[in-house]
Amino acid sequence: MEYILEAKSITKKFPGVTANDNVNLNVRSGEILGLIGENGAGKSTLLKVLNGIYPYGSYTGTLVLDGKEIKPENTRDAMAEGIGYVPQETNVLKNFNVAENIYMSDLRLNRLKPADKRSKSAFVNFSVLYKTTEAFLKDNRINLDPKADVRKLSIGQQQMLMIARALATNPKVLILDEPTTSLSSGDVRRLFEVVRELRKKGVGIIFVTHKLSEILELTDRVTILRDGKNISTFEREQYDSGRIIADMIGREIKNMYPRRESKIGGEVLRVENLTVDHPYIADTNLIENVSFAVHEGEVVGLAGLVGAGRSEVCMSVYGLTPAKSGKIFIRGKEIKISKTSDAVKQKIGMISEDRKRFGLNFVWDIKHNIAISNLDTLVKGPFVSSQEMQKKVTPYYDKLRIKAPSLNTKVTTLSGGNQQKVVIARSLNTLPELIILDEPTKGIDVGSKNEIYQLINDLASQNVAVIMISSELPELMAMCDRFVVMAEGRVAGELTKSEATEAKIMEKSVVSFKTGRQEANNG
Ligand SMILES: Nc1ncnc2c1ncn2[C@@H]1O[C@H](COP(=O)(O)OP(=O)(O)OP(=O)(O)O)[C@@H](O)[C@H]1O
Ligand SMILES: [Mg+2]
Repeated sequence: MEYILEAKSITKKFPGVTANDNVNLNVRSGEILGLIGENGAGKSTLLKVLNGIYPYGSYTGTLVLDGKEIKPENTRDAMAEGIGYVPQETNVLKNFNVAENIYMSDLRLNRLKPADKRSKSAFVNFSVLYKTTEAFLKDNRINLDPKADVRKLSIGQQQMLMIARALATNPKVLILDEPTTSLSSGDVRRLFEVVRELRKKGVGIIFVTHKLSEILELTDRVTILRDGKNISTFEREQYDSGRIIADMIGREIKNMYPRRESKIGGEVLRVENLTVDHPYIADTNLIENVSFAVHEGEVVGLAGLVGAGRSEVCMSVYGLTPAKSGKIFIRGKEIKISKTSDAVKQKIGMISEDRKRFGLNFVWDIKHNIAISNLDTLVKGPFVSSQEMQKKVTPYYDKLRIKAPSLNTKVTTLSGGNQQKVVIARSLNTLPELIILDEPTKGIDVGSKNEIYQLINDLASQNVAVIMISSELPELMAMCDRFVVMAEGRVAGELTKSEATEAKIMEKSVVSFKTGRQEANNG
C-alpha cells in the first residue's frame, strides 16, 4: 500500500462555510508532506478531521490508516491509532511541569506505572517519569528541562513541548499545524532536524506552513488547498515557487514588496535611556538604556534575535510593562506612559505578537472587535449606530481580505490567520499617529502579506510613524527606512536603509555586551 494515511473526499461544513469540499490528502511513510493554502483555505479543519477533534460522522468521506478504515470519535481514538497532532495554537497545561505535560494522557502515563498497577491505579512513579522524560527528550534532541515550570517557558519553548507531547505517543503519522510561527531561527533548525530524523524512522509527516522557504527546504511533496478544495499536488522535483503561490491564491503577485517613496517629516517619538526591570530575575534589566527616535512617514525596523528585547521595548512604549527609568517624548514633549490608555491618548497604536493575551474578544463578532478601538466616532446620542459601524469597518474587512461569511461572524470561528487580520484592522481603526507592529505578518498567507505591506506603505505616506518588528529579515529589509538593531536588551547599533545588509544586521545582532565580544549565537 502506497500511503500510510489517506483522507478521501472529506467534506466538512460549518454554518455558511464549506471548510473542506471533497478534499483528498495522503502521506507516505517516511515522507514529509507540505500543506499550504491561504488563511481560511481549510488546512486546520482537515487536520482536525484527521485528529478526531471533529468526530467521525460530523463530516463525510473516509480515513484510511495503514490500509484500514478508521473512524476516530475523539482525539484519544486518533492517538491510539497512531496519529500525533500539534495544534496551531499552543495549549500546554499551565499547572503541570514539562514531564507531566508530555506524559499527561493516561494512555501514556499507564506505561510509567509499575507493571502490576497498570490501568488500575492513579499512582505515578515520579522518578521514573523524570528519567523517562529526560531520556526521551535527549533522544529527540529537544532541549527542555523535565521539571521546568511551563508558565515560564517562552512561546517557542511551549511549541517544542507540544511537539514533544505528540512524539511521546510514538505516532505513525505526525501532524504539525504551523509549528514554526513562534520559533526562533535556532529552534526552527532544531525542529527540522527532529522532523528529518522522524522521516528516517518511517513516520509520515504533514507539515503546514505559510513560509514557502520551509516548503522548499523541508518537504518531499506539497498539496495546495484553496477555498476548501484541492488545487494541486507537486512532487519535490516539480517545485516551482511561482506556480505554488499562483495555485494558492488564484492570482500572481507581481511585486511582493511594493515600493514606497519615503517622505520623512518631524520627530514623532523619541525614547531616551529606557530601562525595564526583568520580571523574574532580581537586579537584572530586561531593557537597558535604549534610545531611538521615529519620524513622521518613517518605518523604523527593530531588528535582532528572538529574546533581544524588541517586543519588550514596544510593550513599554505602549504602556503594557512599566519602565524603571528613561524618558519618552511625543513630538518633543515629555510624557508619562504607565498604562495603555496613556499611549492611546497619545495616538499610539500597537499590534501585539501575542494575540491571545492582548488580542481579541472571542465572544464578539468581527465588526465589534474592529469597531471597539474607536467607538467615540460612532456614538449618536445614547446609541452606537450599527449602520455607521458597518460602514467604518467594511474597508478594513475588504482590504485585508478577511475570510468569513460576514462581518457578523464570531471571531472564534475564524481561522488563525483571519483572527490576526482582525487584530490588525482593529489597530488601524484607531487612526494612530504612531503604530507599533510586532510581527504583523505572523501566520498570514503570502497574498495577504502583500496587502499588509501595501497598508504599511499607505500609513507611512499618510505621515504615520511606524515601528516594525519581524523575524523575517527579508521582509524587514524591504519595508524599513532605518534599522535599530538590538542585542541583549540594548541597542547594538543603527543602520540606514542604504547602509543595511542582512549580514550587517546579523553582525550587530550577535554582539555580546557581557563579554564585549561578538559571539556566535544560534538564536
Ligand atoms: N468552528 C467553526 N465554526 C465555523 N466556521 C469555522 C469553524 N472553524 C473553521 N471555520 C471556517 O472554516 C474555514 C477554514 O478554516 P481553517 O481554520 O481550516 O483555515 P486554515 O486554512 O487553517 O487557515 P489559517 O492559515 O488562517 O490557519 C474558514 O472560513 C473558517 O472561518
Ligand atoms: Mg489554520
